[in-house]
Amino acid sequence: MRVFNLTIGSLVDENYIYARALSYLGVDFYDHHDRKLLEICEEMNITKDQVLKAFYLFDQSHRFSFKELNKLPLQIVIEYLKHAHQQFIKDKLPYIARLIARHQDLDDLKLIFPEFVDEFVNHIYEEEDTLFHYLDTLIKIDKGQHANPLAALWKHRSMRLKDVFEDHQEVDELAGIRNLAEEYQDQDILARVILQEIKAFDREMWYHAEIENKILFPKAIELEGQIWKRLTKLTRLN
Ligand SMILES: [Fe+2]
Ligand SMILES: [Fe+2]
Repeated sequence: MRVFNLTIGSLVDENYIYARALSYLGVDFYDHHDRKLLEICEEMNITKDQVLKAFYLFDQSHRFSFKELNKLPLQIVIEYLKHAHQQFIKDKLPYIARLIARHQDLDDLKLIFPEFVDEFVNHIYEEEDTLFHYLDTLIKIDKGQHANPLAALWKHRSMRLKDVFEDHQEVDELAGIRNLAEEYQDQDILARVILQEIKAFDREMWYHAEIENKILFPKAIELEGQIWKRLTKLTRLN
């Protein structure tokens, strides 16, 4: 098969995602850049089948379309976003950080990337601990799972959903890195893969934020409105 006769370098140049798949198989592409994939597989006891499966797996984009997500209930959208958060923190960012650390130069990026990761991870935790937590409460109230909805809402009295939404539309944490990475266009293969990974991460973050801004928040604001309407009606009746 054609891919096995290619050098690791040209393979990765063809599709940077293969670098990630190779790393998953235990092959650091930057150490074997001129060797053929076939040789590496033989040396490391990796079967062709394993390679093809890994390439296939990493090449697929397992994501719902915007339309599909919009049709899902709020609770599932939250689960989907939480899953994406986990993937960012446990998988994608550590991989990029590892690549950056392996490069002999890129000093600016070495300095600014960890700062970005810190900020980004904070954003995620805050989002889950405050916003998602509040939305869980709304969903439970909506399902009648709270004996005392007002008491449950009281715990979140500092939450201003519309303000959080406004702030959320402004964040662009990757801006500095995006500009810096553009300079790596003509450098060695490791730098080029880093650039591709950063670009892909940028696209994914944009898409993630779009889902939050255009699906999650509108659904949440609507649910919040419905719940308050119902509760005020009830308190008037009492
Ligand atoms: Fe998020
Ligand atoms: Fe977010």
